[in-house]
Amino acid sequence: MSKITVIGAGSVGAAIANDLTIQGIASEIVLVDINTQKARGEALDIYQGAHFGTPTIVRPGDYSDADGSDVVIITSGLPRKPGQTRLELAQSNVNIIKQIAPQIVAHAPNAIYIIVSNPVDVLTYVFHKVSGLPENQIIGSGTILDTSRLQAQLARQFHVSPKNVHAHVYGEHGDSSFVPWSLAHISNNHIDYYATHSPDSERIHWTGDEAAREEVEEYVRTSGAQVIKDKGATFFAVAMSVCHICKCIFSGAGTALTVSTMMHGEYGIEDVCLSVLTIVDRNGVRGKIMNALTEDEVAKLHNSANRLKEVISNIE
Ligand code: LAC
Repeated sequence: MSKITVIGAGSVGAAIANDLTIQGIASEIVLVDINTQKARGEALDIYQGAHFGTPTIVRPGDYSDADGSDVVIITSGLPRKPGQTRLELAQSNVNIIKQIAPQIVAHAPNAIYIIVSNPVDVLTYVFHKVSGLPENQIIGSGTILDTSRLQAQLARQFHVSPKNVHAHVYGEHGDSSFVPWSLAHISNNHIDYYATHSPDSERIHWTGDEAAREEVEEYVRTSGAQVIKDKGATFFAVAMSVCHICKCIFSGAGTALTVSTMMHGEYGIEDVCLSVLTIVDRNGVRGKIMNALTEDEVAKLHNSANRLKEVISNIE
């Protein structure tokens, strides 16, 4: 059975551990936090309800308890404050991940690592540089959550299940993210075609023009900040997204996800981590899908890459 270690027992780490338990994704979950009391409390709280679902061992621990983990999820770091961008968090959370990396990697050198803390693309890049792990073992949660927000929003607008929406968010998990609309499909049709050829066409108000697209993208880009403004933090949706990555890792099949991985010249971009559709399987990152993007979409991906590189060049 599978063992998952979650580093960071704050709202995100605890929500992930709870969802992993509810969904029966791991047989053993270890919660690690410098605040050992918080880790102990969260682990106990989750464990004492676990037997109503799939019995799971949930326990607090230190880095050495991560021995033999199949997956390690890193959520530590300062959370975003209302009004703060993800990139403004960079240096403090880089310092934290640099401290964590050698300690956890020493105990779980074979695990697949999922980096969740923000700014996630920058931290995924730093983790590549400081962990020394093979690249397939490192996944940044990237725009998987933005993609989920996009699919939820389009599902509502098009009156279908989010599972029928094949549209994705690319680039930075942040303000320069974008949707490659040329690839956006609903129930096997390009979104613009679907709008006029669906049984719901009369109640679908989709023009497909720049304004309609921008409105959806803006909704996706500002969703995290909106949740933070309303309730002080985001954790439920990101936790579900991370659980989905875990399920994809444990499933035998390869699954296409928008997660943040190291670029090696794809679309002319290298030495930065950002999200494009990537196949994830039991070994972590299998590889990127080289979707045919339009020139304009490639330019937007470059814009994300450049913004992230600028942040990376300014951190120690
Ligand atoms: C969000 C945080 C996790 O987008 O960045 O909700």
